[in-house]
Amino acid sequence: MVLLKTKKELSEYLNTLGENEKLGLVPTMGALHQGHMSLVSKAISENEYVIVSVFVNPTQFNNQEDLEKYPKTLKADMTLLSSISGQTAVFVPSVKEIYEKSAVPNTYDFDGLDTVMEGEFRDDHFNGVGTIVELLLRIVKPDNAYFGEKDFQQLQIIRKMVQLQNISTTIVGCPIVREKSGLAMSSRNERLPKKIRKKAAIIYKVLLSAKTKFGMKSAVFVREWVQQEFKKHTDFKLEYFEIAAIDTLTPILEKQKNVKYRAFIAVYANEVRLIDNIALN
Ligand code: PAF
Repeated sequence: MVLLKTKKELSEYLNTLGENEKLGLVPTMGALHQGHMSLVSKAISENEYVIVSVFVNPTQFNNQEDLEKYPKTLKADMTLLSSISGQTAVFVPSVKEIYEKSAVPNTYDFDGLDTVMEGEFRDDHFNGVGTIVELLLRIVKPDNAYFGEKDFQQLQIIRKMVQLQNISTTIVGCPIVREKSGLAMSSRNERLPKKIRKKAAIIYKVLLSAKTKFGMKSAVFVREWVQQEFKKHTDFKLEYFEIAAIDTLTPILEKQKNVKYRAFIAVYANEVRLIDNIALN
């Protein structure tokens, strides 16, 4: 597998690729798990060449401690990536290589997609995500770029960013990969004590029940029900549960006909913050 550390190495590598062959990009922050690997597999199945970027992006962290604690497991990531076939290269730039003089995020007008849910609790996070994804798309110029639906809000914001910035890459959303228990795969799951990790299956169970209830009851009812449910599970603290239209991401109180909705949840298990979401209709 090819390891690329600088923009120069990347550009030399890109120059060796065939003109009419498709290039896929899978942006990651490393600490790879089967969720990431599902993105890589999809990228390999749809492109002749795939670049996986591993870059812990400082501009999307609003908490310095979180940034410092973010797991860095490049050796294990490389081993996992080499187990998968396909013409895959890994781009692992330094912060200086990417941001040159100053790691400051751009400011985008995401039309309110960034102020709700994750945006409400993580200041400037989505400007940081938009900035790094824009930079990567401009350097790599892939035909397709792959993102997981676990971060559904992020996915919609990236779609908005490429539209705003006139970037021609197709943004491909990929389904959430779950552990056997139903817990959505995340690098953060590793930080959960074994007992809590098992109990965290409750998050997906609640989402599934919310989906069933949403077919029969109002959005307000479902929201109340979820809040009551988490009061029974004292190992977990519900940060938010919202039902929102997939296009605007604005949380709703009343459902409308012919609108696609998703339920979004953020829960603390000890000090580990877990998010998940589910399509409701
Ligand atoms: O989802 C992630 O891992 C990151 O937010 C991303 C898209 C790689 C940008 O740093």
